[in-house]
Amino acid sequence: MERRDKVQWIYSSQDNRELSERYDQWAKDYDADLDEGFGWLGPQRAVDFFVKYVPKIARVLDAGAGTGLVGKLLAKQGYGNLVAMDLSQGMLEEARKKNVYREFHQMVMGEPLDFAVDSFDAVISVGVLTVGHAPASSFDELIRITMPGGYIVFSLRPDVYMDSGFKEKQDALAAEGKWRLVEVSEEFQPLPKGEPEVYHQVWAYRVV
Ligand SMILES: C[S@@+](CC[C@H](N)C(=O)[O-])C[C@H]1O[C@@H](n2cnc3c(N)ncnc32)[C@H](O)[C@@H]1O
Repeated sequence: MERRDKVQWIYSSQDNRELSERYDQWAKDYDADLDEGFGWLGPQRAVDFFVKYVPKIARVLDAGAGTGLVGKLLAKQGYGNLVAMDLSQGMLEEARKKNVYREFHQMVMGEPLDFAVDSFDAVISVGVLTVGHAPASSFDELIRITMPGGYIVFSLRPDVYMDSGFKEKQDALAAEGKWRLVEVSEEFQPLPKGEPEVYHQVWAYRVV
């Protein structure tokens, strides 16, 4: 299957079971296809944002960690207390090989997460909050498990932000005093070599 077709195949999944099975199958080739093949910039751009706000001693949840590309970059920056969580066990097995995470958890964003209140100083989530993956309602649980004063940093497509309930949810959480917006990046092309028509922004919120 061509790389572009693989991405379409992932996005055409009908439910979380099919999505996790397809990611399980893609796991071994993911880094070669997306990182090397498509020039996947999402992790680097999100980590560039994250380091501006989050101290190196923080306990950090990588939500939708995939094969651990974000964790690898965070470890390079000096973060040592990293926890990986993902829907797909196959992706988590690849993340394990990066040798940068302390814990691995298979969980589904959009459903209740099996972490206690205030478990993390910060959450980072790259390429996960989108149509057919983790819905805008995932933010409720991410806020619950993040300490007051902690940060939630994530990437999001501008069209998904506008059209798929993210804008309403993000604004509602701010209006309810659950979090406040710290910074949102310019739009950039996260897949310059594979899907130059796609844009992302990185968002940083501080939990109240
Ligand atoms: C495009 S990959 C991004 C992986 C990694 N963050 C990166 O930047 O390379 C999306 C990941 O999100 C996971 N995922 C999709 N929906 C999810 C959900 N509802 N809850 C948790 N993980 C999910 C997939 O299994 C996959 O590993």
